[in-house]
Amino acid sequence: MPRVLSGLQPSGQLHLGNYAGAIKQFLDLQQTHEMFVFVASYHALTSSRDPAALRAATRQVVVDYLAFGLDPQRVQIYRQQDVPEVTELAWLLSCICPTGWMDKAVSYKDKVAKGLDATIGLYTYPILQAADILCVDADIVPVGKDQVQHIELTRDMAQRFNHAFQSEVFILPAYRLAKAAEVLPGTDGEKMSKSYGNTIDPFLDEKALRKVVMTIKTDSQPMEAAKDPEPCPVYRIFRAIAGSDDPRTADLAARYRAGNFGYGHAKQALFELLLDYFAPARQRRAELLGDPGYVDEVLVKSAAKARTLAQATLTRARTAVGL
Ligand code: ADP
Ligand code: TRP
Repeated sequence: MPRVLSGLQPSGQLHLGNYAGAIKQFLDLQQTHEMFVFVASYHALTSSRDPAALRAATRQVVVDYLAFGLDPQRVQIYRQQDVPEVTELAWLLSCICPTGWMDKAVSYKDKVAKGLDATIGLYTYPILQAADILCVDADIVPVGKDQVQHIELTRDMAQRFNHAFQSEVFILPAYRLAKAAEVLPGTDGEKMSKSYGNTIDPFLDEKALRKVVMTIKTDSQPMEAAKDPEPCPVYRIFRAIAGSDDPRTADLAARYRAGNFGYGHAKQALFELLLDYFAPARQRRAELLGDPGYVDEVLVKSAAKARTLAQATLTRARTAVGL
């Protein structure tokens, strides 16, 4: 069975954009692949200076993954800090990685331009990411477009290491772009993103969820007008969640086109869909929050599996270099 690894930084509450763009894909992949999904807590230290916030955000991502339906029987869900082998592997990789490769990495420049401290950790971020991937011998890494360069660098590092030490220590991973899923709009119609403050959190309590849905920006056509659903963010979010083949999506589109259907009605329909669609996830999340011991068990079991693989890889690497 091909092995899949993905990680994301614990930078806040997961939102509908993350669900549509990443988590839905993980839920599909877990049926047919061996999966490792981790929370990149070491990477987060390139920006975090608040220990309590980092701890809470790391936990929240784990709970949200489980709530959305990642099945710990099929998927290992772990925190990067529980597999410390990755940091040693990152060192071994850093000794074969030319500085020029880091100089050409765009994410460093982007992040410094956005105001992050220009630290060595941020500069060598792709090396630690390569170690995450290579230490579990991942075949496939599902990512968004912005991460493709990091996976290419991972392949380059693996190849250069294997070549430098005349060894076959590392498997070369391939990236897999999220299906040409459309970018989910946020409440202002722009890409939903936590950096734009336009997200919808499917775990909000009913009242707050309804309130956010009602703030989605729409145009000012009168209620009577027949409307094109395509450009409307309310419709686009509805379709992304329910699915384009779902009869409820076709029904909503028909009602836009028929007229005498206002944006308030469309928003109410979206609100009801979200409550219905995420009811099992919301229920599971409440249960998980009441059972921290269970979440801890998942973390311990998963980290042990990831660590066993990482230790084997590290032993191969150490032997290859002469340690
Ligand atoms: P954010 O933009 O909120 O910071 P991230 O960059 O952490 O989100 O994204 C994590 C994952 O969620 C990535 O795989 C990304 O492709 C996906 N994702 C985030 N926002 C959206 C969106 N609006 N539409 C589709 N996918 C998204
Ligand atoms: N850099 C990724 C992001 O910002 C997170 C990440 C860290 C990752 N290590 C990884 C993703 C390994 C895939 C594989 O989203």
